[in-house]
Amino acid sequence: MKVLLTGGPTREYLDPVRYITNRSSGKMAKALIGVLLKRKHKVTAVLGPCGVKCPKSVKTVNVETARQMKNSVMKEAEHADAVIMCAAVADYTPVKVSAVKIKKSDDILRVRMKRTPDILFCLGRKYGKKKVIAGFAAETDKIEENALRKLRDKKCDMIVANKVGEKGAGFDSSMMNAALFFREGGKNHFGKISKNRLGYIIVREIERLRQTKNK
Ligand code: C5P
Repeated sequence: MKVLLTGGPTREYLDPVRYITNRSSGKMAKALIGVLLKRKHKVTAVLGPCGVKCPKSVKTVNVETARQMKNSVMKEAEHADAVIMCAAVADYTPVKVSAVKIKKSDDILRVRMKRTPDILFCLGRKYGKKKVIAGFAAETDKIEENALRKLRDKKCDMIVANKVGEKGAGFDSSMMNAALFFREGGKNHFGKISKNRLGYIIVREIERLRQTKNK
């Protein structure tokens, strides 16, 4: 398969030296890229700033903002059979980006924020019927309820739910507290699992879903 993958966080700039971002190490994306290559898939990776170094065989597109990520993803998705949206995309971006550094003062700094484009939502609308689409959901609570809503609203085939906020799994860790939910019905709770092992399971599920979409 030709697989498009996103990973890492995005940065939403306030001025040339300050930005708002999400926590994301890119470790899950790195694990997925490793498994995809081992299983002979062709990989394009659209990555926010996370320091993940891809092998030469991966077409790598480096981006910073959610808007840039959306532009690259929508362009690259045309050629993909499956898309895995692993990136921790910022949900809000400052309404105005100052061209010069904002000078500090003793006053409270108020920043007005607007929503970023929901890339997974746009992908689902455009390609949900033809391509396999997998999304992630980092949640602290109501894991299943939120995952099922995302499956429905964003029209994806699979959601990888990631319970964050517990010791020994999640951000910066090689482990994740994970569960998979499928549009076709069915779920699989893993509890704490290594990102490498989870990467393997996700790729095998995407291969299976591709077979059923091809029929
Ligand atoms: O709605 P929520 O942000 O929890 O959804 C997470 C999923 O949606 C992830 O797969 C993430 O990559 C994707 N997402 C996106 N664009 C956004 C926000 C999230 O593609 N602006």
